[in-house]
Amino acid sequence: MSFTDIPAPPARPNRSQLFVPGSRPEIFEKAAKSAADVINLDLEDSVSPAEKPKARANVIAALNDIDWGTKTVSVRINGLDTHFCYRDVVDLIEKGGDRLDLIMIPKAGTGADLYAIDMLVTQAENAMGRTKRIGFEIIMETALGLTNMKEMVQATKRLQSVHFGVADYAASMGMAVTGIGGTQEHYGMLLGAAGDTDRAFHMNDPWHYPLVQMVAACRAHGVLPIDGPFGDFSDDDAYRAQARRAQTLGCAGKWAIHPKQVALANEIFTPSEALVGQARRILAAMEEAREKGMGAVTLDGKLIDLASIRQAEVIIRQADMIAGTA
Ligand code: COA
Ligand code: MG
Repeated sequence: MSFTDIPAPPARPNRSQLFVPGSRPEIFEKAAKSAADVINLDLEDSVSPAEKPKARANVIAALNDIDWGTKTVSVRINGLDTHFCYRDVVDLIEKGGDRLDLIMIPKAGTGADLYAIDMLVTQAENAMGRTKRIGFEIIMETALGLTNMKEMVQATKRLQSVHFGVADYAASMGMAVTGIGGTQEHYGMLLGAAGDTDRAFHMNDPWHYPLVQMVAACRAHGVLPIDGPFGDFSDDDAYRAQARRAQTLGCAGKWAIHPKQVALANEIFTPSEALVGQARRILAAMEEAREKGMGAVTLDGKLIDLASIRQAEVIIRQADMIAGTA
């Protein structure tokens, strides 16, 4: 290991993150009763400009009035390029009561963006005598944000998670893509040569690069990486495939933009019994190896060594944390 210490990421479940437009207060209670780990009341892109002040008032009332149980409650504010942003922050902290856990900053582009919101939040918290400190979530969803990931994850101690905002990212990158996430049929390579019949088209994943950049920056600094939205909520299998892929790459959870996606995210991001069982077998085999003075042994015909312990511990820690037994 490096001599540089990596802090542990927040030890709370963040498998599913349900978004609720701030302009639809009639569904707030349903969100509160859902099985989502995190609720994001949205003031940004699901709310039209004319509705912004009303949505803000709805969200503030809901923070005070609704029983959110043990959920992590977050509000997505408007971006730093809008005049809604400062008012969102100030009103949430001055009028939103103590229940608010996180503020989500959309389209974060530089470390200074986080610094600016940190300053505003700190002033408002101090003025209100608020002892519970608000955490931050940011969305990586612009070319600027992608190129400044390393700076952003170190910009403030308030940062708890980074999210991949796939639709705005595509727009910012100038990608020829519609829809929110998912398979892109034109991104691939044609095998064979001119004149060949039945040439196979080998599909690639245009979201892979930014996702891995995000996961690496997060994991180097004790921040949770979370995969963003998948827009086609009629396609459960495609959602599962996207979520499994994100989990395989190190993400801790994924957004739900419709309540039916909550159960899918919880299912995928809860380590399966089979996976946890295999992790425990690895730990048991490595303990036996240690007693014999060995560092590398064979399990089921495959090499396992000290690195296998660290892999297994990631899975067991996650399972225990979700089960509340950590
Ligand atoms: N949170 C809680 N409940 C929700 C919900 C949400 N985000 N979206 C829908 N529901 C409820 C509906 O009220 C309905 O409840 P009912 O069965 O008691 O009548 C049920 O879930 C089924 O909803 P459905 O009719 O299929 O959806 P809809 O047409 O009402 O809304 C969307 C569909 C996509 C517009 C809506 O889910 C939504 O606004 N999602 C969040 C969008 C968002 O915040 N985007 C920003 C981040 S990308
Ligand atoms: Mg966005």
